[in-house]
Amino acid sequence: MAEFTAVGVVGLGTMGAGIVEVFARAGLRVVASEIDEPALERGRAHLTGSTDRAVARGKLSPDDRDALVGRVTFVVGMAGLADVDLVVEAVPERLDLKRRVFGELSKVCKPSAILASNTSSLSVTEIAVSTDRPDRVVGLHFFNPAPVMKLVEIVRTVVTDPAVVADAQALCGRLGKVGVTIGDRAGFVANALLFGYLNQAVSMVEHGFVSRDDLDAAMRLGGGLPMGPLTLLDLIGLDVGLEVLDTMYERGGRNVRHAAAPLLRQMVTAGLLGRKTGRGFYTYGESAAAPDAAPVGSSADFVTVTDEPVIGAAMATDRPSEVVGLFVHGDKLAEVVRTVLTSDAAVAAAVASCTERGLVPVVCGDRSGRVVNALLFPYLNDAVKMLEASYATVDDIDHAMKLGCGYPVGPFELLDSIGPETVLSGLRALHRETPEPGLAPAPLLEQLVTAGRRFRT
Ligand code: 3HC
Repeated sequence: MAEFTAVGVVGLGTMGAGIVEVFARAGLRVVASEIDEPALERGRAHLTGSTDRAVARGKLSPDDRDALVGRVTFVVGMAGLADVDLVVEAVPERLDLKRRVFGELSKVCKPSAILASNTSSLSVTEIAVSTDRPDRVVGLHFFNPAPVMKLVEIVRTVVTDPAVVADAQALCGRLGKVGVTIGDRAGFVANALLFGYLNQAVSMVEHGFVSRDDLDAAMRLGGGLPMGPLTLLDLIGLDVGLEVLDTMYERGGRNVRHAAAPLLRQMVTAGLLGRKTGRGFYTYGESAAAPDAAPVGSSADFVTVTDEPVIGAAMATDRPSEVVGLFVHGDKLAEVVRTVLTSDAAVAAAVASCTERGLVPVVCGDRSGRVVNALLFPYLNDAVKMLEASYATVDDIDHAMKLGCGYPVGPFELLDSIGPETVLSGLRALHRETPEPGLAPAPLLEQLVTAGRRFRT
């Protein structure tokens, strides 16, 4: 087993600076490297800000903060990495740039040093072969915010020495993280499942199917997720999101789920990158807009919707303009479905009625699965396809989504609790509406339903 005493981090953006903190918290000496003084200063400020916040919240004593920061040496360039036992590269997500950095690391680092990339979706193999030691190269993929999220995806290539993988696993344990070891496939486990969902969420807003705020509320309250997808994209950075999607689309068989929504590309071109630029889907520092007041004196008829469009049920009545669909999730959320004929007054009355009953209403168009199921079911389907491809196990996939993205349950736990047959019938309805191959129900799911089995039991 390798002994890690000193480690290096190259690139001190949000992820790199977070990884520096993770290492220093675990008592390791860290050499933190950037390309020039201003970038180095930004990295230093990130570490100081994060550790000062921990002190202010009573999570870290001032002495421990000083000791932590004292373990980090900030350097411009890579010459200072000569003695480290492992380096994590976290520079922007461009293959040419990463290959150049790894070429330089080959020259500077001692032969025994492990070279790791924090790439989100690029090929670790292609990065590895640009070094003098492809057998000592792995992916170490952390999740944002690095000090908080417990998952590290350890990516081994066909040439990685198994002893290096074992060392990486042991290191993750020392950092208080859970390492999941997987092969070199675009998006690995978590991003491959997360970004199809994020992309679809952007498309929903782009097409006016649901508003920004309603979409995020639906996934927090109806999906139980820690953040809505647009808030999460703002945290990750829209530029990073676009790069990950473009790479997965090219490397992952041009799956329509990973074809970036035009709105995402336009926002990146316009410099609306999320939190880091002060504006993305949300503007930071802005107070929340007041909700529209509901008109008084209007009425609506409700139908409880299934997978089918509501307009069919509405047309069976003598006043389809007063019909809305209503789908209640637990005791928190109500999806209010407006058809092509529903009047504004009927929507407003439905919204007011939900609010009176203590439910948060979200208004959406008349499509299969509405917001929550239309986003969750294809994500579950993607997880089944990943299992079917033997890329990762049920446990690893569930772990990855819980520990990497803060989901309360993993996709297979969720599939089993909803019922595979319910998910399959929802997927069939979605696929009828949008007959894209990437949205076809996974054969393994069909087989499981036929066999009357669950995934985890
Ligand atoms: N740095 C350090 N610590 C942070 C932090 C940051 N940037 N942001 C939050 N924290 C800490 C807080 O100090 C707090 O710690 P405590 O529990 O010890 O007091 C804890 O996290 C919870 O923070 P808050 O109470 O302020 O806020 P929330 O409860 O809303 O949690 C969250 C924030 C942990 C970010 C949560 O919303 C979450 O899990 N969101 C999902 C994040 C996610 O999906 N990440 C993965 C993105 S994909 C990715 O990174 C891959 C890449 O390749 C693109």
